[in-house]
Amino acid sequence: MIIAVDGPAASGKGTLAKRLAAHYGLFHLDTGRTYRAVAAAMCDAGHSLDDSAAAVETARTLDFSGLDAPRLASSAAGEGASRIAVMPALRAALVERQRAFARAASADGHGAVLDGRDIGTVVFPDATVKLFITASPAERARRRALELFGEEAGPNFEAILTDLRRRDERDEGRAASPLRPASDAYILDTTQMSADAAFFEATRLVDKALRN
Ligand code: C5P
Repeated sequence: MIIAVDGPAASGKGTLAKRLAAHYGLFHLDTGRTYRAVAAAMCDAGHSLDDSAAAVETARTLDFSGLDAPRLASSAAGEGASRIAVMPALRAALVERQRAFARAASADGHGAVLDGRDIGTVVFPDATVKLFITASPAERARRRALELFGEEAGPNFEAILTDLRRRDERDEGRAASPLRPASDAYILDTTQMSADAAFFEATRLVDKALRN
């Protein structure tokens, strides 16, 4: 069983994917973390973020056990990730690693929930169920500000909103695997929904897909 959870930055897809994995007893991979980790490792090694060969090599040898590192949650890591994510060769190398993760999870008798931008369109076009999670940019900025600074308005709100819009533009506009819902994805707009309501609705959709 593979559940694909895609959506723009700060849409709540990561939180939802984690809860779905716990609920259905599946492994979870936040693929955004794989892009963030490659960008951070390239910076550590002094590589330019445009160096495609270095990015591919870093992706091939990336240790997935370090994906929870707190520093990968920073805005700088997200910005670096979105810059390197335009390189097709890097994407191919990471997609191969992401598929291998899911294959190992399935061989274990479980399955996996993967969240990202291209899971339903590229990584697992045959996923058991595909969810596309979205929310308005202002609502996403409000949630991100709350998560990072503990306040939903305040001086950081505008900067966060600008950053999200730039990331959206880059993710939707790139030639390689742009952010878009798969044609057979369920679209969940969570602008007016609590995290619990989004989780409830997502399980309803997954249960329906499993019955079919
Ligand atoms: O989801 P997260 O914000 O951690 O992703 C960071 C960046 O990595 C995104 O802005 C996007 O450019 C890139 N990414 C991607 N494909 C994925 C996951 C993330 O291009 N499957």
